[in-house]
Amino acid sequence: MRIVAVVNEKGGVGKTTTVMALAALAAETDQVLVVDLDPQGSAMDWGSAAEAAGKELAFQIVTARNPQDLGQMRELDFDLIIVDTPGNLQNADLLRQIAEYCDHVILPTEPTAMAVRPLVRTWQDVVDPTGTPYSVLLTRTDPRVPRDVEDTRELLSGLSLTVLEPHVRSYKVHERASIDGTVVTGYEKNRMSEKAAGDYRDVLTALREQWESEDTSVKGGVA
Ligand SMILES: Nc1ncnc2c1ncn2[C@@H]1O[C@H](COP(=O)(O)OP(=O)(O)OP(=O)(O)O)[C@@H](O)[C@H]1O
Ligand SMILES: [Mg+2]
Repeated sequence: MRIVAVVNEKGGVGKTTTVMALAALAAETDQVLVVDLDPQGSAMDWGSAAEAAGKELAFQIVTARNPQDLGQMRELDFDLIIVDTPGNLQNADLLRQIAEYCDHVILPTEPTAMAVRPLVRTWQDVVDPTGTPYSVLLTRTDPRVPRDVEDTRELLSGLSLTVLEPHVRSYKVHERASIDGTVVTGYEKNRMSEKAAGDYRDVLTALREQWESEDTSVKGGVA
């Protein structure tokens, strides 16, 4: 069992989109649970939209109030729990508590200079004090401007932050998925839907490689 949280104190950076895409892809081989710890309930709403559209998701979504709930959830029969979290600056304490219970934190960010400051602050508030392993994920990148990705990667590496090699390009499919009540893997196969799902598939592969070297028994002791 591995618990992974998707965290950034900045709103609208693609946290919920990342949670749902990774859950859908991981559920192709693993038992996956999404835990919505964001009071906005976006992941829960997304699940309800899927139910209303008659599209059964291959993973479960539950809501939780307290980070402590994650301690009990570790006993459940899932391979992977992915936690969605709120994105605003008032939540540093909550996010730190969530990170305490998690084995890994994914920090999604857009590839802009403006986004780097809140990302670094999140790293300082959440990751550094808890020592939880993490990866920065560049999301909503513009396929026409690869330079942004390279520049942001360089900037973050200069600050000694670990950035995942694969990144997630901006595609309409991601924007549409919650409205359509589906996930990125739920679309008919075409060039765009395959690229959109492929980006997250590469991200999951890179994460799994990293997870192999990370020991879940360290946090397994937190109750
Ligand atoms: N790769 C992508 N391509 C295109 N649109 C995207 C992508 N990722 C996210 N989006 C869009 O960006 C917006 C914000 O994404 P999302 O809701 O996942 O962010 P969030 O970090 O969870 O936001 P909040 O902090 O409000 O919870 C949404 O409209 C979503 O559809
Ligand atoms: Mg969200």
